[in-house]
Amino acid sequence: MALVDWRDDFKIGIDSVDYEHRQMIELINAIHEKLSHDAPKNEVIDFLGEVFTRISAHFALEEKIMRSWKYDQYDDHKADHERLLDEIRDIMDGYEAGTIAAAEAELSARLNAWFTDHFKTKDSRLHRHLGV
Ligand SMILES: [Fe+2]
Ligand SMILES: [Fe+2]
Repeated sequence: MALVDWRDDFKIGIDSVDYEHRQMIELINAIHEKLSHDAPKNEVIDFLGEVFTRISAHFALEEKIMRSWKYDQYDDHKADHERLLDEIRDIMDGYEAGTIAAAEAELSARLNAWFTDHFKTKDSRLHRHLGV
C-alpha cells in the first residue's frame, strides 16, 4: 500500500516543479515499500542515496527559479529544504546503524508530513507569488 497518494491539491502550477513533486511522492512510496518488505540492506542504502540525490536536485531547481525571480522568501524556503536534507541524512545514518523499524517510522512520520506540508505552504506560496 502506498504511504502517500498524489493529490491534485499538491499541484503548484509550475509544470517542471509539479512533475518532480510527483516523482518524489513515488520515491517515498518506493522507500516505504522496500523497508516494509525487508529488502536487502545494501539495496535500501543505495536507494536512499539515490533518493537523496534526486531530492537535492529538485531543491536546486526551485532555488534557481527563486533566485532568478529574486523571490522575497528565498532564505526561509531554502532553510526548509536544508532541514529536510539533514533529516534524510539522519534517517540514512540511523538505517546504516541497524534500526530498520526506526528508519521506517521516521520515513512515515517525517517525509510524508514534510512534503505534504512544504508543497502546500512554501511551494504553493512560491507559485502564487511569482504568478507563473
Ligand atoms: Fe518542491
Ligand atoms: Fe520547496
